[in-house]
Amino acid sequence: MVRSTNITWHDGQITKKNRQSLKGHKSAVLWFTGLSGAGKSTLSVAVEAALYQRGIHTYVLDGDNVRHGINKNLGFSPEDRTENIRRIGDVSKLMVDAGLMTLSAFISPYRNDREMVRYNFEENEFIEIYVKCSIHECENRDPKGLYKKAREGIIKEFTGISAPYEEPINPELTLETDRLTVEESVEIIINYLERTKMV
Ligand code: PPS
Repeated sequence: MVRSTNITWHDGQITKKNRQSLKGHKSAVLWFTGLSGAGKSTLSVAVEAALYQRGIHTYVLDGDNVRHGINKNLGFSPEDRTENIRRIGDVSKLMVDAGLMTLSAFISPYRNDREMVRYNFEENEFIEIYVKCSIHECENRDPKGLYKKAREGIIKEFTGISAPYEEPINPELTLETDRLTVEESVEIIINYLERTKMV
């Protein structure tokens, strides 16, 4: 990788704390991780809607969407997934710095990659949400027909079939989406944010 040299960090006059107090709430990243089809996108947009109704400034970053733009040059090899998460970790950090409650929904299958992102944030700013669902149920749902293609060998390196998913060891929240309704999961997340005085 080519590294930038001769660069200097410039601080602005307005800080993250200034932006947060203008908005009237804290900023943090809700990091949704889990298998394809587990419900990351569904939950992130539902939580965003609930936060919006409470007057919280938000933004959702989603794997499929981000791979249409900033990360369109990345595939699904372990190296590309790591780079995907590194970039999104940085984008999430910029959004949190901007004062937004940021909802990032990526498979992010490697524990080490997620830990690197966490390490980049201040304490309590990185909220890891394990969107847990059995591979059996994800494959049953198969909303985009990707599991079928993976089983047929049309899609290579598919998470859960031919590529690994490393479960979080100590996430802030685990939501079992094959047992909970979307509304129940949203409530658990909002309760968590209220309990920890984030919103
Ligand atoms: S990762 O692992 O975090 O870099 O993946 P992410 O950026 O979240 O992108 C996942 C979405 O890409 C589609 N897709 C695949 N997923 C997993 N493995 C392979 N090989 C693959 N190929 C395409 C799929 O739509 C994923 O979206 P979700 O929302 O997770 O179903």
